Formats: sequence, C-alpha cells, structure tokens
Amino acid sequence: MKLIDVIKNKKTFIKPPVWMMRQAGRYLPEYKQVRARYQDFMEFCFSIDDVVEVTLQPLRRFPIDAAIIFSDILIIPHVLGQKVWFETNHGPKLEDINLNSFLEKAMDINFIEKLLPISQAIQKTRHSLDQSKALIGFSGAPWTVLTYMISKGKTNNFQKVLEFREINPELFRSLLNFITEKTIDLLKLHIQSGVNVVQIFESWASAVPEILYEEILFQPLRKIVLSLREFYPDFPIIYYGRGINAFYNKIQDLDIVFGVDESSSMKNIYNLLSQKVLQGNLSPHTLLSGQNLEGEIQLILEEMKGYPFIFNLGHGINKDTPISHVERLFKALEISSHCTFNACL
Ligand code: CP3
Repeated sequence: MKLIDVIKNKKTFIKPPVWMMRQAGRYLPEYKQVRARYQDFMEFCFSIDDVVEVTLQPLRRFPIDAAIIFSDILIIPHVLGQKVWFETNHGPKLEDINLNSFLEKAMDINFIEKLLPISQAIQKTRHSLDQSKALIGFSGAPWTVLTYMISKGKTNNFQKVLEFREINPELFRSLLNFITEKTIDLLKLHIQSGVNVVQIFESWASAVPEILYEEILFQPLRKIVLSLREFYPDFPIIYYGRGINAFYNKIQDLDIVFGVDESSSMKNIYNLLSQKVLQGNLSPHTLLSGQNLEGEIQLILEEMKGYPFIFNLGHGINKDTPISHVERLFKALEISSHCTFNACL
C-alpha cells in the first residue's frame, strides 16, 4: 500500500499517493442515487451494504490510493442519545437536549454494541478492496464534535459554545473528556475491524482562541493518540486541524501525519516541523472552479518533491464540483510524474 509506505517508511514517490477528503459524497451521481433511498442520513450510515457501496464508488471512477469508510463524525452524539438529522441545504441539526442529563444517560449506553454495523461495513469493505489500496477510518476530534452538540448544529455560533464553557466549566470539561473516551473507543473499533490508517478531523479548530489550544485541542488529541498507541504501537494516524497548521509545532512530539489546509503552503509547514509526513492541500475551490487547476497541482508537487507526502485537498470536496475537474486532477498527477517543473513532454 503506497499510502502506508509513505507513512510508516517515509517513502517518497514522484507520484505521491492520493485521496480526497469527502471523496464519497454528493458530487457523484451514483452516490446521490443511493442517498435518495434514505430519508434519514443516520439510517444510511448504519446500512452495511450501502455503506460498502458508497465507500467504493469513488475508487471505481478515479485512480485513488485509499478508500475512506463512509460514515460521519456525528455518529457519536447520535448513538449516545442526542438525535442528529439533516435537512437539505441546512447542514446537520442536533436535538435540543439538556447535556447534563445526556451525559448521565450516555454513560450507561453500550456504545460498541451499537456500532456493530459500522464494524461489519469496515470488514466487508476491506474484503472487497484491492490489497494495494488503504482503507481509512476516522472520527471527529472532540472539540469539533462538541461544537455541534452544544450549538445544536449551527456551526457559525462558536461564541455560544465558548460561552457555554465559561458558564458551565465542569460540564464542558466532563463532556470533552467523555467525547474523548468515546472517540478512542470508536477509533479502536475501526482499527480492530480492519482499517489501515485513521484520520482525526478537527474541522473547527480555528474557532478556539489560541490561549485555549492546549486545553481544548491538544490535550484531547494527545490522549487519543497515546491511548491508541498503547494497543497499536505504530498504527498510522493523520491529524487534520483546519486553521491551526501554523501551530503544529506544538504537537510535533506526536508521531502522526499532519493534514495541511489550503491556507498554508506545504513547504512552510514542512519547514515548521522536522521530518514529518504531510498531507494536503489543493484548494477545494480551485477544484470546483477548475481555474489554474493543473498549475496549482504542479506547485504542490514541486514543493513536496523528495519529501514523504500524501496528496489531498485542503478541505472536503465541494458537492457542486464537476466530475470532469476531478478527472483533470488525476490526469495532472499522472502527467506531472513524467514532467519537471515548467517543462513537460
Ligand atoms: O470523506 C468521506 O467521503 C467519508 C465520509 C464522511 C462524511 N462526513 C459523509 C457525509 C466524512 C469523513 C465526514 C466527516 C465530517 N462530517 C466532518 C469533518 C470533515 C469536514 O468536512 O470538515 C464534519 C464537520 C461532518 C459533519 C457533517 N456531516 C456536515 C457538515 C455535513 C454536511 C451537511 C450538508 O448538508 O451540507 C454532514 C453530512 C454528510 N456527511 C454528507 C456526507 C456525504 C452529506 C449529506 C447527504 O448526503 O445528505
């Protein structure tokens, strides 16, 4: 597996391994066809055969090096008793419940048992996947999941979430700890079921004031990484902290891959960290518009030439992205491997 070779052996390739965040999703007509059979997104996430199907869909179209299991970061609150649903063009909605009593009740729930369909979907996907392709498991990082739980889905309302922390410091801390524990359980389940690497999505990292990075972002991350490593000593872990790439040096003691968003340059982050494997960072807006797509891809490849690197987007693919642009991306990667900068066959 090329992707695992980069992470574990720091191998470098002229054509790096590639996958796209949110590659299984609404830009694919075949995804929309399966999706249309479900009113309830969460029910879809627990339907084993359809999860396997949509996980594999992008790999049938494009030469991608990894599949990411189709699921969602909001599985955790949903399974633990805070209902999650999706209304068209409204993003996620979460049930308005008292989080104090949520916590009390959630402690008694047999979390792992409820996740068995996900475990089976991972096993089945791994079976159907070519041995050269990696299977990626994932979770949200605790803060990102908690922002949805506290704001009930309104992701622009971070001030409210931070206020909640000030007004209820004990409850906030207990929730963060609890979600951290459940994240560890979820990722362990993914690993036991057969994924080859896990990614932790801290998509709303940038909403945290810098002074709180350690408490809210890095301590939970350390706990997750170290707990997983206790059981799986060198298991590959990718961390994606959107908007905080410039602070990655604060967690460079962790032996993890760093996911870079499109606001940073790959080279700057590589220079900030010593000898870390990086993943990133084509702007999903460039992929959407198609403007200077090949040029930006080549720039990233040039910057990361000779370094252990996984090509990806800087954030999830936009649902309106034309398939033809994604095809251009893979073609550009193919061609670049025969080219030197500015000089092509
Ligand atoms: O990457 C993949 O292809 C695997 C599947 C995956 C989904 N969500 C499926 C999904 C992954 C890795 C996620 C992660 C996720 N979910 C994140 C972190 C990544 C990121 O983009 O920052 C976040 C913040 C969520 C929460 C969430 N779930 C949002 C914001 C949405 C979109 C809501 C909307 O209507 O725009 C979802 C729903 C969701 N999860 C969809 C998919 C394909 C689309 C919903 C649908 O098909 O109806």
